Amino acid sequence: MLSDNMQAALNKQIRHEAESSQIYLAMACWAEVQGLEGVSQFMYDASDEERQHMLKLVKYVNERGGHAIISELNAPEIEFGSFKKMFEILLKHEIFVSQSINELVHISLEERDYATHNFLQWYVAEQIEEEAQARTILDKINLIGDDKGGLYLFDNDVKQLVVTSSVMPGA
Ligand code: FEO
Repeated sequence: MLSDNMQAALNKQIRHEAESSQIYLAMACWAEVQGLEGVSQFMYDASDEERQHMLKLVKYVNERGGHAIISELNAPEIEFGSFKKMFEILLKHEIFVSQSINELVHISLEERDYATHNFLQWYVAEQIEEEAQARTILDKINLIGDDKGGLYLFDNDVKQLVVTSSVMPGA
């Protein structure tokens, strides 16, 4: 059985994951409109993954005798200025999510809820991977600079990332 405190914190995380899914969906749309197919596919994929992160939490809360709350969401930005800016926002957002997961781990220990502590380890590992991927992409963007040909190759590169990550056992 989840404590009230643990349940409230997990429900807050459900909202963060749902908002992440919306943010990446908005990024997918922006990239698609700009004509970068690879980047937009990457963002659609990221949006789907975030929904899976949310669902995993929903199921967990309900299975542990709690009640998962599906709340209203903040609307994401719709314009991102440049690809560099967009991936910078993505990295910043993932760092925020990692901090939020860390806070949940902290609460689980305070509550001596070892089942939730164990459940959260998947998210801890996932955040390391997501932050690392965003940093790798930003490094590539910085290498390209303003080179249009480079941007075309980058788009193809990101498309490969989608293919690679979708064959890996996922959420
Ligand atoms: Fe579910 Fe990207 O954090």
